[in-house]
Amino acid sequence: MLCHIITIFPEYFAGILKIGILRIAQEKKILNVALINLRDFAMDSYRTVDDYPYGGGSGMIMKPEPIFQAVESVKREDSYVILTSPQGRRFEQNLAKELSQKEHLIFICGRYKGVDERVREFLADEEISLGDFILAGGEAVCSVILEAVVRLIPGVVGDEESVATDSFVSGILDAPYYTRPADYRGYRVPEILLSGDHQKIRVWRRKEALRRTLLRRPDLLERAELTPEDIKLLKEIEEEEKNRSRKC
Ligand SMILES: C[S@@+](CC[C@H](N)C(=O)[O-])C[C@H]1O[C@@H](n2cnc3c(N)ncnc32)[C@H](O)[C@@H]1O
Repeated sequence: MLCHIITIFPEYFAGILKIGILRIAQEKKILNVALINLRDFAMDSYRTVDDYPYGGGSGMIMKPEPIFQAVESVKREDSYVILTSPQGRRFEQNLAKELSQKEHLIFICGRYKGVDERVREFLADEEISLGDFILAGGEAVCSVILEAVVRLIPGVVGDEESVATDSFVSGILDAPYYTRPADYRGYRVPEILLSGDHQKIRVWRRKEALRRTLLRRPDLLERAELTPEDIKLLKEIEEEEKNRSRKC
């Protein structure tokens, strides 16, 4: 995957591109990231990329010309142009999956009061939001999206089964996990995980994943693809939880 990031702060990405999954993906030549300093496309010697809003009001708006020119300098037939914006489609795992299948992503990182509306209307393929809150700029948004997307590209994460069982990837929340020691300050790991019985452990994990989904995110269960075994386990969980609340 080729990825261009258009930003007034290319230095923001210096650290994150050198660590973890993004570093590995680049080393494996699965990912190629190029940073574009938006100011290189400014129209004046002051490298100005923002201006006052028409109609007055507070805050500065990112000018359209440098953004259009920066995108057009790298755009190809298969490019997908993403405008980071709190008003866009909410970023979730299914969107990460969709983006992981693209050949070329171009991110536009907004700043100030926002970006001239014509960028959204006539240049971006999609506006993506990280959630209902306001950040100072699109750089953090871009780094989050990139990390979530890149770990889904086949070959990036060595253990693909681990990715497949992650929360949301499998349609439900992931199971609880424990590691050594088996007893820490008297807090014991569930016995079944020490039993060595892989079939029982698989069923236990699935059941606990379903339990926490039912208790924390029941909305996910409405959309999840459940097997007959899942439905049986859910019935057991509902019964167990009813008994538990009766005892309290
Ligand atoms: C201060 S924000 C502008 C917010 C804009 N005035 C609004 O209320 O919709 C500046 C830039 O940060 C980015 N940004 C801030 N919060 C975001 C979020 N939740 N999701 C995606 N991008 C965000 C966008 O690129 C945005 O153009």
